[in-house]
Amino acid sequence: MRPLILAMLAGLAAAPAAAAVLPVTVAAQAPAAGTLVLPLANAGDLARVGTALDAATQAAVSRALTAAAFDYKAKSTLSLRGIGTYDRLLIVGLGAAPTRVDLQNIGGIAAREAGKDKAVALVASHLPATAATDVALGYRLGSYSFDAYKKPEKPVVRAPLTVVGAGNTDEQASVAEAVAFTRDLVAEPANIIYPESFVERTRAAFAGVGGVKIEVLDVPAMEKLGMGAILSVGKGSTRPPRMLIVEYKGAGAPAKPIVLPGKGITFDSGGISIKPGTGMWRMKNDMAGAASVVGAVLALSKARAPVNVVAIAALAENMPDGNASRPGDVVRAMNGKTIEIISTDAEGRLVLADAMVYAKKYDPAAIVDLATLTGAVGGALGNEYAGLFSRQDWLADQLIAAGKATGEELWRLPLHPNHLEDVKSDYADIRNSTEGNQPGASHGAVFIGYFGDPKTPWAHLDIASMAMSSEAVPTVPKGATGYGVQLLDRFVRDFKPGN
Ligand code: BES
Ligand code: MN
Ligand code: ZN
Repeated sequence: MRPLILAMLAGLAAAPAAAAVLPVTVAAQAPAAGTLVLPLANAGDLARVGTALDAATQAAVSRALTAAAFDYKAKSTLSLRGIGTYDRLLIVGLGAAPTRVDLQNIGGIAAREAGKDKAVALVASHLPATAATDVALGYRLGSYSFDAYKKPEKPVVRAPLTVVGAGNTDEQASVAEAVAFTRDLVAEPANIIYPESFVERTRAAFAGVGGVKIEVLDVPAMEKLGMGAILSVGKGSTRPPRMLIVEYKGAGAPAKPIVLPGKGITFDSGGISIKPGTGMWRMKNDMAGAASVVGAVLALSKARAPVNVVAIAALAENMPDGNASRPGDVVRAMNGKTIEIISTDAEGRLVLADAMVYAKKYDPAAIVDLATLTGAVGGALGNEYAGLFSRQDWLADQLIAAGKATGEELWRLPLHPNHLEDVKSDYADIRNSTEGNQPGASHGAVFIGYFGDPKTPWAHLDIASMAMSSEAVPTVPKGATGYGVQLLDRFVRDFKPGN
């Protein structure tokens, strides 16, 4: 390769890791200038936040609210410029009974609508004690953008936020930082993020974080362990596969860890069962499960949470090649079970098979795997929920509760004994596809579960339709969502072993 091209590639690969989180501070008094965000549940709230405004400004705002017939509903906004001493007063509807997720949305709206202003303050003195934490998280999540490869005419500068009132604005800072880390990995193209560079990004993000151990299995190590399933996916690519394990144990943590395997296909072309060209570019996000499980461990470890957790990122690139697997090939997973590859495009379950077997060595309290596994799950649930599969009701319930608390919601789908019958093979112990026979998402789930220990509580989250969004919402910009980081952070912190 010519030196110039090599230098250009090196330049791209050196794209910076996630920047530190935006500063959010607390102040007792509202500033008298810049942008002021006023969350209001009703007309009477204006008097409650009134200490921030002088009487004339309050009267002007009141008239504007009436004239605009402002409805005070969650996510409604009214932007008033040049009133009193302020460049902008941004009124945001609170709704009647705001949840913590609603308060995070207020922060996200402030970031999206006013984050590029000179200075932003948000009045929270009339809100619950936890509001400062929530609006800070929402502001940071909503401020995210991925512009590593664009040269903007003028660089985007996000204003630091001042929360007017009291509370802790940094309690969830590590969550915001970890979500940005995960979003960056998912947004990065597959010429930048491949198994080895995923590992390097992870090492950089965890540099200096206490209680963390990172282990990486390369091809010879995986060969020695008999991980024929992940190796079969990786061998069609010039970028070799990796199994990346990130362990974190906090002070006072339980003895048994929660183990989080994640699908890390850095690009899914489909392999020899090649995908259609339209939309194939999206398959750079097929490592979102791995990015989310590693991101969750990043959030928990940076916050020094008293938890025991292990992320296993099963990393490979799925490419067609003379050395790639063919449909009909039979491979052997780490536990000795044989797999007939019906479709090389059902590769996520293959890499996860070996990750599930490897998880056994940690004697897990529970296993929760995340994967952009099937198109079928989006057909059932759209973009509102990820699919949840588990044979343990208590585990499913704890995951659903964590989903509700964080706004990263889950909907439970079935694992029927007949689904396992459906994936039995004529030529091997199991096959990786039923050739389009429904139900596709359950067939994928049941395949992954086959490689777990039946005595270990296990859940599978199919996040295929959640990893990237085509429409921005307050805390999730268009593009890579980071879905799963907040959900897993909450789930692991709140986890109680069941039976
Ligand atoms: N990575 C895809 C699933 C996917 C599809 C994610 C669309 C996001 C959007 C996965 O590897 C795949 O190709 N699944 C196949 C499975 C089939 C071959 C059994 C699918 O869903 O069609
Ligand atoms: Mn595929
Ligand atoms: Zn895939």
